[in-house]
Amino acid sequence: MKIAVIMGSPRKRDGHAIIRKIQAVLERHGEVELDMINCKDAELEECRGCDLCMQKGEQYCPIKDGLADIVRRMEQADALIFASPVYAMQVTASFKRLVDRLAWLFHRPSLAGKPALTLVTTGGGGIGPTARYLEMTAVGWGCRVVGKIVVISSFYFDRPGPQNFYDQSYKVAADHAIAKQTERLARAVAPGGLPGPGYFDLYMFQGLRSKTLISVVDRAYWEAKGWMNSDYYYPVKLGPGKLLFSRILNLLIRLLFASFRKKVTFPDQHSATAGDALAG
Ligand SMILES: Cc1cc2nc3c(=O)[nH]c(=O)nc-3n(C[C@H](O)[C@H](O)[C@H](O)COP(=O)(O)O)c2cc1C
Repeated sequence: MKIAVIMGSPRKRDGHAIIRKIQAVLERHGEVELDMINCKDAELEECRGCDLCMQKGEQYCPIKDGLADIVRRMEQADALIFASPVYAMQVTASFKRLVDRLAWLFHRPSLAGKPALTLVTTGGGGIGPTARYLEMTAVGWGCRVVGKIVVISSFYFDRPGPQNFYDQSYKVAADHAIAKQTERLARAVAPGGLPGPGYFDLYMFQGLRSKTLISVVDRAYWEAKGWMNSDYYYPVKLGPGKLLFSRILNLLIRLLFASFRKKVTFPDQHSATAGDALAG
């Protein structure tokens, strides 16, 4: 299996050590090819804010650098790992730079249906916001997050120094969790193993589809994919709770946009661009 790792750490230490553990678990299931996308080393300029990727399409981005290659590598992978250490209570700047440049991927999610794992390494703080950001990014790009790993490095790694609180029982429990979450990824990659969406996946799916109501580019993409009336990116049979949740959300979004329609001209009313529609 081919796994693309989007790595936010600028150094090859804690996160990389855990990736090697994940790789060892995955190798129990067959050959593993890891494609490390190290954000710090990526040939990536910062987003200039022209908004052309949103308004007209990602091919109109004026920056020609390593972004297209990263997208190609992610699209070619069977699964993805979204990894970042906590820096000042969040993902690192280089990870965020990549996400900014790929803001359009939340609108036109070409990674739909790929299983994913998130990995946070931390001194102890910022776990919630960082893990949530990684998950939101993965789900926003269409991935199905099947496992989440958090490692408190100061407890996990036995290193000398005043900031080390190595705890063997923590390490044993963390290794167990790493193996368990990774097994979920291995199962999801196997044919027919991808689980259906959870509530958060459905919430994001419905929310992102709402962009098709105001963007010609997004609408064309979602229509071509056949997602305009589907329950999710791939065929699923939702249980009654999730079906109800999804339908209510869809209805609320449509009602909300219907009330905006009086003030804003939307793309199906004339052939204006999404930019015209947004400008009202
Ligand atoms: C600039 C910087 C900022 C950090 N900010 C935090 C923080 O806000 N909270 C925290 O618990 N740890 C913080 N850490 C510690 C790292 O998250 C921790 O060492 C992590 O294990 C590093 O993983 P890595 O080796 O994969 O980069 C910070 C480390 C650095 C270098």
